[in-house]
Amino acid sequence: MPTKKMPTKKMPSIGWIGTGRMGYEMAAHLARGGADVLAWNRTRAKAQPLEKHGAKVADRVSELAARDIVFCMVSTWDDVRQVMDALLEGASEVPRIVVECSSISLEGSQQLRAMLAARSIQYLAAPVSGNAKVIKAGRLSFVCSGPKQAFDAVLPYLKMIGPAAAYVGEGELARIVKICHNVFLGVVTQSLAEVTVLAQKAGVPRHAFLDFINQSVMGSTFSRYKTPAFVNLDFKVTFTPALLRKDMDLGLDAGRRFEVPMPLASATRDLIQSMMGRGWSEQDFATLLLQQAQASGIELKPENVDVSDGLA
Ligand SMILES: NC(=O)c1ccc[n+]([C@@H]2O[C@H](COP(=O)([O-])OP(=O)(O)OC[C@H]3O[C@@H](n4cnc5c(N)ncnc54)[C@H](OP(=O)(O)O)[C@@H]3O)[C@@H](O)[C@H]2O)c1
Repeated sequence: MPTKKMPTKKMPSIGWIGTGRMGYEMAAHLARGGADVLAWNRTRAKAQPLEKHGAKVADRVSELAARDIVFCMVSTWDDVRQVMDALLEGASEVPRIVVECSSISLEGSQQLRAMLAARSIQYLAAPVSGNAKVIKAGRLSFVCSGPKQAFDAVLPYLKMIGPAAAYVGEGELARIVKICHNVFLGVVTQSLAEVTVLAQKAGVPRHAFLDFINQSVMGSTFSRYKTPAFVNLDFKVTFTPALLRKDMDLGLDAGRRFEVPMPLASATRDLIQSMMGRGWSEQDFATLLLQQAQASGIELKPENVDVSDGLA
């Protein structure tokens, strides 16, 4: 999918913090589109290849403080706080807008808003749906909250990264939307693992079962792009079990705060924990399938069938 070109009217300078699996691909879209991107990553080597797309790479995060718009894509709220402290500590110039895309809690996001407001920085909460492959395919979606003016100002840059950016209102509303999204992701993945193993144990090959599901009313972009992993057992990481567990915990915390029972999320969270305890923690979270097979007394083998991920 070609990267969208930079809007021509204004050319704010962009700072990009965090070039892990997600951040790298997002920043690459901006740089390839012609935006003026200065990127920083704790492990510099992971940011370096952005130079071939036209981005510059900083040695210290504080070098990004003078940029107009700073994006952040790290892991947890503690990590966000650390990089934001380091960005702003002693800075004489600060960004006009910070766009924070990591999946973090409502409370962390509120603290960040207060911290940035104290420096008169506008803050857009902008978590995302989709993995690195989805970004490459040009299909990432953002859910955003904060000042509408900040959303309007960064929208052209969000659109360079992915086609969809929903504005859901003021404050931290985007955070709860993203948390709900990822709780659903965990529960759906566990459910898909259960029915896939059930069908297989009853004699249906996984590729045949998933081919039907993908074409049925229950099929989705997600069931399609997880199909190659489920069929051929390629569990190269797209999203780690630890990050999914973090999001299930954020969902359960929110459930307690708003007094909403979440029985399926609760069971799924513990299944993810069990999977990690059994040693499936370094591969993709779709190894929930392997745990389900083990619990069902069968050993899965790759089917070596060429199946589509639906993203092309
Ligand atoms: N992967 C997905 O499918 C997906 C989808 C939607 C949302 N998300 C969310 O997006 C965020 C990033 O996920 P990811 O999959 O890209 O994770 P990742 O590949 O593990 O990348 C994490 C990034 O954060 C940096 N980082 C972590 N802690 C840091 C700290 N204390 N100080 C400075 N930098 C730090 C890492 O730097 P180093 O390179 O130095 O380790 C790396 O650049 C997470 O909040 C995740 O929940 C992920």
